[in-house]
Amino acid sequence: MMKIYYQTPTKDFTLLHGDCMERMNEIEDNSIDAIFADPPYFLSNGGISVQSGKVVCVDKGDWDKGGTPEYIYNFNRQWLSLCRSKLKDDGTIWISGTHHNIHIVMRCLQELGYKVLNTITWQKTDPPPNLSCKYFNFSTELIIWARKHEKKTHKFNYETMKQLNGGTQMTDVWRIPAVGLWEKQQGKHPTQKTLRLLYRIILASTNEGDTILDPFSGSGTTGIAANLLGRKYIGIEQEKQFCELALRRRAALEDANEHKRLCDKMRENPQETTVLINHMRETDRDLAMQLGITYVRAGDSKGSLLVKQGFERLGYICLHTNGDNPQLFKQTNKGFRIYTAMDLQNMGFSAENAPYYAVFLFNPNKEISYDQAIDLHKKKYTQVAHIQPLSDFVKIK
Ligand SMILES: C[S@@+](CC[C@H](N)C(=O)[O-])C[C@H]1O[C@@H](n2cnc3c(N)ncnc32)[C@H](O)[C@@H]1O
Repeated sequence: MMKIYYQTPTKDFTLLHGDCMERMNEIEDNSIDAIFADPPYFLSNGGISVQSGKVVCVDKGDWDKGGTPEYIYNFNRQWLSLCRSKLKDDGTIWISGTHHNIHIVMRCLQELGYKVLNTITWQKTDPPPNLSCKYFNFSTELIIWARKHEKKTHKFNYETMKQLNGGTQMTDVWRIPAVGLWEKQQGKHPTQKTLRLLYRIILASTNEGDTILDPFSGSGTTGIAANLLGRKYIGIEQEKQFCELALRRRAALEDANEHKRLCDKMRENPQETTVLINHMRETDRDLAMQLGITYVRAGDSKGSLLVKQGFERLGYICLHTNGDNPQLFKQTNKGFRIYTAMDLQNMGFSAENAPYYAVFLFNPNKEISYDQAIDLHKKKYTQVAHIQPLSDFVKIK
């Protein structure tokens, strides 16, 4: 029988308080679809760093102090062995680390019969500076992904990852910002992971309804991401203050606005491909489709294109007429060209409201099907062009 610290009435979030070496024994064998583990890296050795412009000690807590190499090896081997017995046969485990712990973790995984699938390099796009100036700045963490068995296959949502990556195969280098203030509203944990990292991990290796275990739950990031994505969660944490923080974070999800805010922020991807949503008059649309050309007023005339963040990642064009009949196409040339109104009129378009236009090219023969109903009437001025992330069109499950 599991002694539960907290469980939601729907049983999608279960928290156990205590040492994971003991508490994992209470979890049924072969019952877990995926594990994310962010164990102690054992790097609390009195070093310094910068946070919000202030010099701070990097020590995280007694749990991160470590001991002899034998102690660190035995510690990792024990929890990794327990995790393996909890995983289903097609289950996978993700373990984060740095050079301080990751080589020992790798050795244990291989000794225990796991098969290593990838080592992801998480490159933080906003690392704090290195104050000692004796090394390169630390900007990465490594995340090993391994499956339970050498031979039995594992779950991998390859297509979802491809969609997240703008239609091309995702690599093992992930550029994601470090944890942000937007996800620390219920309190702080010294080594909190960002929801954006867990979003990708959970989408890659689980399906809706699956159960995810985190033996070093901390502030419960894995559980929050799991529940936002319709997965179940079991977390174990030895420090009561962090259990309480995780509960506050979970309770906040009951508020529909907060749920939506976190979901939207978690899905934001600074690398994501964007779509230009552009109205074309009924009378111009056939010609646009024949030539693979669309255009937007440029310069200082009313309704001109406003270039803002995300424009540098433009890869698709969505044509519509007053919000109706949206069609999605891939851009054929990156960027845009400037045409005069006369240039466009000579081609047969009725461009007459501005002296200059930004022209975008797309492949009209390859309309792209998408699975998310997109309501272009929601915008006040449907005729003004704007950009949206590609994931608004493609449903990520
Ligand atoms: C690196 S932090 C995890 C942070 C977490 N990923 C988050 O986003 O908040 C590791 C956590 O494991 C806890 N911990 C360390 N050793 C543990 C053990 N043997 N059993 C359970 N929890 C442990 C620590 O108290 C700490 O909160």
